[in-house]
Amino acid sequence: DGPAGYLQPSSNHLCHFSAELIENMDKKATWDRFYSETSSSTTAFKNFEWFFSFDAVRHLIMPRLESRPQPDASLHVLDIGCGTSDLGPCIYRRSSLPVRVTCADISPIAVQLMKDHVLAKPVQPGNPSSELEFTEMDCMQLKKHFTSSSIDLIIDKGTTDALLRSKEGKGKAELVLQQCLKVLKSSGVLLQFSDEDPDARLLWLETAVREQKVASAANVGVQEVGVLRGVSYYCYQVTADPVS
Ligand SMILES: C[S@@+](CC[C@H](N)C(=O)[O-])C[C@H]1O[C@@H](n2cnc3c(N)ncnc32)[C@H](O)[C@@H]1O
Repeated sequence: DGPAGYLQPSSNHLCHFSAELIENMDKKATWDRFYSETSSSTTAFKNFEWFFSFDAVRHLIMPRLESRPQPDASLHVLDIGCGTSDLGPCIYRRSSLPVRVTCADISPIAVQLMKDHVLAKPVQPGNPSSELEFTEMDCMQLKKHFTSSSIDLIIDKGTTDALLRSKEGKGKAELVLQQCLKVLKSSGVLLQFSDEDPDARLLWLETAVREQKVASAANVGVQEVGVLRGVSYYCYQVTADPVS
């Protein structure tokens, strides 16, 4: 049973959305409403997972944290558009080497739900020096929050997809990518989990990186995550050599 066997969405992500909402997935108000409604419809907190949960992609994430030149130095992981996903807490729990996991989202409602959840049900770190934080942040402005070349791993599960699918979100997706490349270390990597076809996404990534001129060369790659109900999911990897 390959990774596709783990593709178990906790709910069908798009069934919560009307066509009008899908067109507006680049807007903070859309997500505030979504997280308010999904949390008020149940009494017990439940993580909402776009596409699939951590187990489907742990084999693509954890090796990047486990092989490092200085095992005692903490690696900084950033989950952009974390929503109420359990992905960040899972990394914090599973990494035996120290990590600082920052889970960032534009929706203060999602961020507060996660803060309340980990307060009520604390997550045990895999390493005593690890840190886990949830923070409200517009990922089009990562440079306001992080210094250049400071992040080791950026994870994007469905956030760029949501922006690209929206009516007015394409420019926003480009901005998020640009900001990611600015705050990533030269040894760092951006992982985008997506259901977009490689023909379209690779072309978009290569063009967007070239046009932004934040990198002299970008290495863009793709790996299939698996197939669920006839839909293929991919992991796009972007690394950038800084402009000299
Ligand atoms: C498709 S959901 C994915 C949520 C989560 N990553 C998951 O796997 O379930 C997209 C998320 O991106 C967030 N988002 C949209 N625009 C954003 C922005 N400019 N900055 C930060 N987060 C944003 C939304 O609030 C939403 O939580």
